[in-house]
Amino acid sequence: MDNFIYYAPTRVIFGRGTENEVGTAVRREGGSRVFLVYGGGSAVKSGLLARVEKSLKESGLDFMSFGGVKPNPTAEHAEEGREMAEAFGADFILGIGGGSVIDTAKAIAHGVANPGIPLWEFWSKVRPVTKSTPVGAVLTIAAAGSEMSDSAVLTFESRGFKGGLSTDFNRCRFAVMNPELLFTVPKYQLAAGVTDIMMHTMERYFIPEIECDMTDEIAEGLLRSVVKNGRLILEDPNNYNAMAEVMWCSSLSHNGITECGRGKDFSVHKFGHALSALYDYTHGATLAAVWRSWAEYLYRDEPKRFARYARNVWGVTENEDLAAAEEGIRRTVAYFREIGMPTCIEELGVTPTEEELERLSEMASGGKKLTLTRIKPVRYPEIREIFAGAVRKK
Ligand code: NZQ
Ligand code: ZN
Repeated sequence: MDNFIYYAPTRVIFGRGTENEVGTAVRREGGSRVFLVYGGGSAVKSGLLARVEKSLKESGLDFMSFGGVKPNPTAEHAEEGREMAEAFGADFILGIGGGSVIDTAKAIAHGVANPGIPLWEFWSKVRPVTKSTPVGAVLTIAAAGSEMSDSAVLTFESRGFKGGLSTDFNRCRFAVMNPELLFTVPKYQLAAGVTDIMMHTMERYFIPEIECDMTDEIAEGLLRSVVKNGRLILEDPNNYNAMAEVMWCSSLSHNGITECGRGKDFSVHKFGHALSALYDYTHGATLAAVWRSWAEYLYRDEPKRFARYARNVWGVTENEDLAAAEEGIRRTVAYFREIGMPTCIEELGVTPTEEELERLSEMASGGKKLTLTRIKPVRYPEIREIFAGAVRKK
């Protein structure tokens, strides 16, 4: 087991009706002027925004609302929010939505605490974040895990860049999680969310074998649970218990618990972010589209790990490691297909041209500079090969 620091300071307020406790939660964190961030309208339509505003009023808090965050949120929009929040004198930023909204809230929080510094300086790692404004979340979709993660992902449209910023200043002070708020999420988004949760766990699991049994058991249990309950919520999106399980998996998949002693990789995410930056596809779906090609490229170099995954997550009974690994990959891809996710890039809706494949590979390799995966070095030429292998299903 490698050395590690586990830090997950977010207060989780979980269950039915918890959105009515938001005012108290903000007060507990010392907020008095709250900047509310929400998305394209689901929180307005469901009445959630109004309920949150009522809770803030009842706690005697001033607030200003800022909507219009779109999936794959842009830095340009976050900069607009940051200006409004500064003018309002916000001392607490509250995201009501999914990863896109919460990440925008985090970006606004950094902006407000660091007047005059463009967000790009933080995301391009020119400048570290050394202070921020407190952020809280009311989660409305189980997927990105932003409610407990140290990350915030933005698209800088003018630069054709999508990428994450990791810092403990991205940790939400609290996350309000009522599974009932997720009953209205469209099925495609539910399935993309399940895929993203799986991938956050797998990006910490598929690294070279290190004896790390407790962490592996947590990861495998999480994967079995999200696979099983993912099926149930797609059959019946009003199944409270199944939704609650998936929602809790979302947070645990990305709060660091499944990397203790093992670390993380996040190479599949690099491929996915490139696809979203170029074509604006749903995050979870981009991951499903490239995963088969990624896994097929790597499993022969780490057959034991892939075989353990196959046996403990999918119940594969093959004795021989390579055969078990292959069956595990097949079952994963079959599951993506079953829940309505793409299993190749064409199923996302595009056949990339040669030029686009180059552009995608350039983005995923950070301008041909990065080496991906902990299994073996995957640089620009290999990244291009994996992308090319992901275009069409086998
Ligand atoms: O905008 P509204 O109207 O709210 O609609 C949203 C949006 O269209 C809808 N939705 C959300 N809750 C709903 C609902 N519709 C009906 N009822 C509800 N209760 O779902 C759509 C997707 O929302 P979004 O916030 O984009 O989903 P998700 O949580 O998957 O977030 C994706 C973003 O998070 C980033 C992704 O790259 C992407 O930009 N990620 C953030 C991470 C982090 N901060 O730690 C890690 C992830 O790996 C990921 O990269
Ligand atoms: Zn993700």
